[in-house]
Amino acid sequence: RIIRRSDYRAPDWQVETIDLTFDLDPAQTHVTAVMRVVRSGDHDRPLRLDGDGLRPLSVAVDGVAVNDWVLDDGALVVPLSGAAHTVETVVDIAPETNTQLMGLYASGGLLCTQCEAEGFRRITFFPDRPDVLATYRVRLIADKVRFPVLLANGDPVGQGDLEGGRHWAEWHDPFPKPSYLFALVAGDLVANRSTFVTRSGREVQLGIWVREADLAKTDHALQALETSMRWDERVYGREYDLDVFNIVAVDDFNFGAMENKGLNIFNSRYILADPDTATDYDYDGIAAVVAHEYFHNWSGNRITCRDWFQLSLKEGFTVYRDQGFSADQGSAAVKRIEDVRGLRAAQFPEDAGPLAHPVRPDEYIEISNFYTATIYNKGAELIRMMATILGPERFRTATDLYFDRFDGQAATCEDFVACMEEGGGADLAQFRLWYSQAGTPRVTARLAHSGGRATLHLSQRVPPTPGQPDKQPMVLPLRIKLFGGETGAALTEEQLFLLDSAEAEIAFETVPERPVLSINRGFSAPVIVETDRTAEDLAFLSAHDDDPFARYEAMQQLMLDTLVGAVATGRGDHRAVVDAVRNTLTDPALDPAFIAEAVLLPSESFMGDQMAVVDPDAIYHAREALRSELGRTLEEEWRAAYAASHAERFEYSPAAKGRRRLRSVALGYITAAGASDAAALAFAQFDAADNMTDRQGALVTLVGGTSPEREAALDIFYNRYADNPLVLDKWFQVQALSSRDDAAAAVEELALHRDFSLANPNRARALVGAFGVNQRAFHDVSGRGYRFLADQLIALDKLNPQTAAKLLPPLGRWKRFDAGRAALMRGELERILATPGLSKDMFEQASKSLD
Ligand code: ARG
Ligand code: ZN
Repeated sequence: RIIRRSDYRAPDWQVETIDLTFDLDPAQTHVTAVMRVVRSGDHDRPLRLDGDGLRPLSVAVDGVAVNDWVLDDGALVVPLSGAAHTVETVVDIAPETNTQLMGLYASGGLLCTQCEAEGFRRITFFPDRPDVLATYRVRLIADKVRFPVLLANGDPVGQGDLEGGRHWAEWHDPFPKPSYLFALVAGDLVANRSTFVTRSGREVQLGIWVREADLAKTDHALQALETSMRWDERVYGREYDLDVFNIVAVDDFNFGAMENKGLNIFNSRYILADPDTATDYDYDGIAAVVAHEYFHNWSGNRITCRDWFQLSLKEGFTVYRDQGFSADQGSAAVKRIEDVRGLRAAQFPEDAGPLAHPVRPDEYIEISNFYTATIYNKGAELIRMMATILGPERFRTATDLYFDRFDGQAATCEDFVACMEEGGGADLAQFRLWYSQAGTPRVTARLAHSGGRATLHLSQRVPPTPGQPDKQPMVLPLRIKLFGGETGAALTEEQLFLLDSAEAEIAFETVPERPVLSINRGFSAPVIVETDRTAEDLAFLSAHDDDPFARYEAMQQLMLDTLVGAVATGRGDHRAVVDAVRNTLTDPALDPAFIAEAVLLPSESFMGDQMAVVDPDAIYHAREALRSELGRTLEEEWRAAYAASHAERFEYSPAAKGRRRLRSVALGYITAAGASDAAALAFAQFDAADNMTDRQGALVTLVGGTSPEREAALDIFYNRYADNPLVLDKWFQVQALSSRDDAAAAVEELALHRDFSLANPNRARALVGAFGVNQRAFHDVSGRGYRFLADQLIALDKLNPQTAAKLLPPLGRWKRFDAGRAALMRGELERILATPGLSKDMFEQASKSLD
């Protein structure tokens, strides 16, 4: 069944309050719900309470048992005559058999919940839609030995002992909220605690709850929480509003984390860190996700979404907010580079493929499939463009207006844009197309120069996407600057040009020398820009542009042009890239973290995205040829950078992170050079490392090769971390991403390893998810990669459809491959679709991918 945005209707019944009692037990949990329901508007429709897999044990209206209810498509339909009633329902649920990890489930001895988007209906009957906002009172009852800690949303209001070794706790959340923000946790947990005093003097008890053995790994998350609370006060004027803020880490979780009011629940990979087990990348991810979930308290909880088509209202804005937070903690330039690389790796392919959808979709079959890079990351780019158009002060005035006007309400993307217009004093009529049109706009830029003047010709085209054959021109904010090709001097100030038509021209009056174009600086618009800049121009910009993102971008373009040319002709001219990389690598003024980003070659899949027909083997070989050329020609420089970035002791700071990053990149190039001591060097780093960044960096390098050190390192790593699931995930993932010829066979074998299990989403993603993005191995011409992925998806769909469906997109890229591969990929999609009992999650992804 297709759900359409145009079918939205306000709810027939509102729920003012709900009192929930949970008699908790992994095998059988008894749930009693008492709701005050109020008829909304003038109608005679019955009360419809969503349910998924529930049977009512009893239903009562105003204290009297009734049996005139019916079950319709899982929902409980109760006829009611008056304007307001008290409705009580009782159900039993079985958390320990809940492998979907939606609703109430068991994870490593804990009981916990995940409700977004539609998990609450697996716990109790309720109008499970985000525009029904109720006040919750929750009473938890459980065995005191197995479940000594009982947590729910809001503030704690009481607790006590019961007979039979049981106890109870009660929680009250004063802020009306939609059901997707409900949460409870019961288990044997300890907390890393702190007190935060808000700007206006409210004392908040903070707690990060984990198993006792993990307590020492929670300081970084706790610190990130305090830093983000202060940051949101300073940058957006947002204060926290309850007396407690709790975070719980669980091992089995379908995605990163969840912003439940006052009780965030996290995938443990986004909480637990110490230098021995977490990389710098993990540390950064933890801070970003802690901040993200915390920021949702305003952008998501105080103001929620009217319906799920508006998901980007909270997710795009909150990603934009967490990106700003992370940028402020270290190098903003490097953060921007990482975010754009992520957008190009995940969102651009989505926009170019069969699952393309607008930031505000028009229809879905299963909303879980729409927690996508488009909703999150492209959504964040939309907010960023509006902030760019408004400028920082007016943007802040506009967000203040938004938070003020819609506090306590369920709002729409349109409401947000209207506040940007009104508070920011801008006309965003045409800008709204960004919400409705899918596809990545393509801009062509041609710069002409004669008689001391220059003219920039710009054109834009938004490609057709499924269901959207024709597109209107959009508003693209492009930051532009010209440099002198001879002197290197800036010929203009940077200007912000709003390209809002299919074609436009910009005239520059005083241009005495041949100009070089710097465009889309800072990646001011999430578009693909095609220019006719020469290798010389790009090399010049990579060394002299004063916008660090533009410098990075020029280098990437130079590398990409070289590599795509090499794939097409079978021969690469590497000289321009080698010179440009040397310049960057040896520039003493540059931050090592920036150098490390700038000298990395574009990924194999990004190269593939530039080609009409992807040739995975030719791409791999062209890229390897350039890598080893860079390694050999600059070997001395790589060794110097490697030595210079050595540190005696681990420290987590932006500077130390940058040095570690450059060290691993340099090690990779020394290995690519074929140096005879490369494996020994990598193994020495692996062995001596006092932190996971250096250890994993060395392991990645070794795993790509055939040295005896490779097997030794894999064994040592496995044995050392055999009891740490998050690090074992890395062991699986590193092998699934390997560039060796035997990678596909190795992955098939790893799927039989005793530590592999599809039941844990992190483990499934570490092997199956990583393999799907290993372009060369996955697209093995035999089709074994496709068969493997389909086998795993079919098996996982029976346990956990949501996580399974997320891993399908690599199979949907068949249109971009040769006829032989395309037929094999389609064959696997058809096999998936023919599986009896397929979930609607998987059905939607697979059927759309075949079209
Ligand atoms: N709201 C959560 C977050 O972004 C993620 C929830 C994902 N839900 C889902 N059904 N995929 O922080
Ligand atoms: Zn979010």
